[in-house]
Amino acid sequence: MVEMGWGEWDRWPLLQRRGSHVFLKLFVSVLLVGISFRFFFVFSESFAFLTFSQPTDVSDGRAPLPDSQPIEKDVASNTSVPEIALEDGIEYPQKDKCDLFMGEWISNPSGPAYTNESCSFIEPPQNCMKNGRPDTGYLYWRWKPYGCNVPRFDAERFMDAMRNKSWALIGDSILRNHVQSLICLLVKVEVPVEVAHDEQYKSRRWHFRSHNFTLAIIWSPFLAKAETFENEDGISSSDIELHLDVLDEKWTSQYHNFDYILISGGQWFLKTAIYWENNTIIGCHSCQGKNLTEIPVEYPFRKVLQLVHQFFATSKHKPFILYRTWTPDHFENGEWFSGGTCNRTVPYKEGEFLGRDIDHLMHGIELEEFENVVVNGARLKLLDTYGLSLLRPDGHSGPYRAFHPFDKNMKRLTIPNDCLHWCLPGPIDSWNDLVMDLVFNQS
Ligand SMILES: *[C@@H]1O[C@H](CO)[C@@H](O)[C@H](O)[C@H]1NC(C)=O
Ligand SMILES: *[C@@H]1O[C@H](CO)[C@@H](O)[C@H](O)[C@H]1NC(C)=O
Ligand SMILES: *[C@@H]1O[C@H](CO)[C@@H](O)[C@H](O)[C@H]1NC(C)=O
Ligand SMILES: *[C@@H]1O[C@H](CO)[C@@H](O)[C@H](O)[C@H]1NC(C)=O
Ligand SMILES: *[C@@H]1O[C@H](CO)[C@@H](O)[C@H](O)[C@H]1NC(C)=O
Ligand SMILES: *[C@@H]1O[C@H](CO)[C@@H](O)[C@H](O)[C@H]1NC(C)=O
Ligand SMILES: *[C@@H]1O[C@H](CO)[C@@H](O)[C@H](O)[C@H]1NC(C)=O
Repeated sequence: MVEMGWGEWDRWPLLQRRGSHVFLKLFVSVLLVGISFRFFFVFSESFAFLTFSQPTDVSDGRAPLPDSQPIEKDVASNTSVPEIALEDGIEYPQKDKCDLFMGEWISNPSGPAYTNESCSFIEPPQNCMKNGRPDTGYLYWRWKPYGCNVPRFDAERFMDAMRNKSWALIGDSILRNHVQSLICLLVKVEVPVEVAHDEQYKSRRWHFRSHNFTLAIIWSPFLAKAETFENEDGISSSDIELHLDVLDEKWTSQYHNFDYILISGGQWFLKTAIYWENNTIIGCHSCQGKNLTEIPVEYPFRKVLQLVHQFFATSKHKPFILYRTWTPDHFENGEWFSGGTCNRTVPYKEGEFLGRDIDHLMHGIELEEFENVVVNGARLKLLDTYGLSLLRPDGHSGPYRAFHPFDKNMKRLTIPNDCLHWCLPGPIDSWNDLVMDLVFNQS
């Protein structure tokens, strides 16, 4: 229902006159549609329609930085904080005063928990290793909050605790990126069977039989009711219509089936859309030629988050809920459509990159709305991955969304980099370390 078809690509040349923000939105939408293997060729073919405009100057809050730094494998951690052993099974110190989301990325010589060889659940656009990414330094970091450690994800313990339980990840393709990471961490213990999926593999469900554990991803990029107008080829004939006072039934109708919910709003809110409230059009964001009131994106985002929180508070079902915050992108030297890249090979240090205004704005709204939540029996926690993700410009697929993009015998036009989704293995594996910690250790 809310899916955006690949036919969108065909409209791009027409839309090029409409200004760069439109491109960003279209690009984001296409990226977030998820680029699964069977679509990949459609995807790259579609770029043939494009002629890119010149790179634009983007003021993005980035501090000046020498081009490329050597990988420091032995970055000293904050020595004022006692180091704690990270082996599994060890109890970690009380974390009363530790903010899990304030910290730094430190060297992790032991590397990722899985590889492209050991996990077959990595989708091609995320499989940077297999796609020929030459540098590997980005794999050797772990997130270290000031004042405590986050233990590595413990698949045995997780699966043990999740017997007869079910999880749903609800949102856009960043959630799909996340679920792949989670499955890859779990396959050591048990390989799941996919038991259901929608036509386009956007909503999927897996079952870990011997643990009777169900893991689902529910495609709902706006979380609210949204309509697109597409024909059978997925060609959109009109702007998205987003209802700011009605949640998306796709997830609310299944909500009661899940013991754990991981949910997030995201980049789809930046897209061109007509907004409805109370069955009336109240305005539009970046619509052209429609004579509708322009509404800035923060209004619908806040409205929908309020509605989601209200649903959590009033629903009789009280699952354990994690709200994951905004994911920043890291396009540099241009936007996605003008040759923007993300070819850094080491994380930023704290303060080196402050994020773009729009990212700050959206993240700020999430924090404010979270503060305002009336808990009312719901077990709701913030998975505030924004800040730590901001520091990882090195973790995106970039050109390695495609198979060996620089091989001479791969006849392919230049395709935009993906500086929004993440390589797997990669930085977002640490999101699961944090999930584990929030679910098991923190009261
Ligand atoms: C995994 O990546 C390595 C490079 O890091 C490559 O040599 C190997 O062929 C890849 N394996 C698969 C199954 O793609
Ligand atoms: C070390 O950690 C403390 C908090 O425990 C923090 O205030 C300080 O900024 C950190 N120093 C560095 C260099 O990261
Ligand atoms: C899981 O469910 C089965 C069947 O209802 C039950 O026999 C078993 O004790 C349950 N296990 C746990 C850990 O709850
Ligand atoms: C699996 O878990 C569900 C609850 O999620 C329970 O109803 C069912 O009985 C369990 N099945 C088995 C075979 O344990
Ligand atoms: C919705 O519209 C109806 C009828 O126009 C009105 O009575 C009601 O107060 C409106 N509700 C909100 C929330 O605006
Ligand atoms: C735009 O809408 C306003 C009020 O709804 C109306 O007065 C005006 O004539 C419209 N302009 C065009 C070009 O349709
Ligand atoms: C990164 O990309 C920019 C822009 O394309 C280029 O100028 C720079 O040399 C690249 N850096 C590396 C390390 O490849």
